[in-house]
Amino acid sequence: MRTFSSEEGKPRESRSKRFMAWKSRWVWYVLSLGTLIVLLTGIAFWWFTRGRSQSQTGDGDALIQPLNPRLVEKGRGVYEANCAQCHGARAEGQPNWRQQNADSTYPPPPHDSTGHTWHHSDGLLYRIVRDGGSIYETPGFKSAMPALGDRLSPEEMRAVISYLKSLWGPKERSFQAQVSLEDPFP
Ligand code: HEC
Repeated sequence: MRTFSSEEGKPRESRSKRFMAWKSRWVWYVLSLGTLIVLLTGIAFWWFTRGRSQSQTGDGDALIQPLNPRLVEKGRGVYEANCAQCHGARAEGQPNWRQQNADSTYPPPPHDSTGHTWHHSDGLLYRIVRDGGSIYETPGFKSAMPALGDRLSPEEMRAVISYLKSLWGPKERSFQAQVSLEDPFP
């Protein structure tokens, strides 16, 4: 009787042992798989954000083209003759440039680092100077920026934009070089 019951007990015990071993193996599988997923996600996230912050600072810095001093000088002359009367002698803009006028135009903004000219790509700046601010016009907004494409040659328009770039700091130059990649001068 004793042997019978112990013989019967043994396989039952080892079966549950085997089950425990199987269960703990699965716990390990799941744990290590989970750790692996967390690790890979972390690495992917790091890689992605690293690439992005590099392209916003490092790559933009590398894209900054040195300005041609002769083109900048020429642009200064173009600016003084065609832009200064509205945008100010030192491109400082009108003091109230953020406040819309009664006729729903805006006063001329600054072109130095305090304005937002440097947010625009080379291609867009060229189109604004050539075709005027009316390229922006939407209901409720009218532009008082004249089209100067008839008065200025393509080289003069590029020169005046070079002059505006000479008024910006490294941060503005870097940003503007980056956005110009997709929309360069025509
Ligand atoms: C008669 C006045 C006047 C003259 C002259 C003028 N502008 Fe403007 N300009 C404006 C006004 C007003 C605005 C703002 C309206 C708008 O955003 O469309 C403006 C806007 C701009 C903008 C867009 C700025 C931004 O941050 O979006 C650029 C670039 C610009 N002017 C460049 C020039 C250049 C370069 C010249 C000379 C070659 C010039 N402007 C001559 C009145 C003038």
